[in-house]
Amino acid sequence: MFEVKSAEFVTSVFDVRQFEGRGLPEIAFAGRSNVGKSSMMNRIMGRKNLAKTSSTPGKTRSINYFRINNRFYFVDLPGYGYAKVSKKMRESWGKLMADYFHISQSLCGVIQLVDCRHDPTELDRQMHMMLEDYQVAYMIVLTKADKLSANQLAKSVRNSARIFELPGDLKPLPFSAMKGTGKKEVLKWIEWRLTDSKG
Ligand code: GTP
Ligand code: MG
Repeated sequence: MFEVKSAEFVTSVFDVRQFEGRGLPEIAFAGRSNVGKSSMMNRIMGRKNLAKTSSTPGKTRSINYFRINNRFYFVDLPGYGYAKVSKKMRESWGKLMADYFHISQSLCGVIQLVDCRHDPTELDRQMHMMLEDYQVAYMIVLTKADKLSANQLAKSVRNSARIFELPGDLKPLPFSAMKGTGKKEVLKWIEWRLTDSKG
């Protein structure tokens, strides 16, 4: 299994056309605001606050690119579902995301994050349908797994699988940025996506 040997922030854009990745494959992180996208990326990159985290939802508004091992990009997508945003901001979020999926030719996988303590929302389902529509390979990760017991987690895995209508062989993965739970499985999945998408 590969290790993250180097991770560096590359750029932050509000229009995908400002940075089209220059040919390296991309793994993106999507999910509602405050679900733990930036924290998960930091845990996997082994860097404390390279992707800026905050307890104030709506921290990541732009699309942020990080180069890993000079081999691929991690893409921190802006969160959705943040209550305080205006209608205009929601529209610009939708446009930014649609553009991202439409334009990113080198996208080879998306990690969709859902808080393990809550069932996926309507917005999570819409996000998920976008992944299905664009036929991107995805994995569902249930974040903040350190906050639930094993029993509660098992229930959360079942519920989210049902609500997303996942095929039987796809199981949501509990993950904790705090404890590192699930990191190995995520690295494995990323490695698979990178090798599968080659050529
Ligand atoms: P936006 O950028 O606003 O879209 O949020 P985000 O999805 O990037 O969330 P972020 O990583 O900034 O985390 C939001 C809050 O959740 C922070 O206070 C984190 O410390 C907390 N958090 C993230 N992951 C975990 C985790 O695995 N366990 C616990 N207990 N808290 C977590
Ligand atoms: Mg963030």
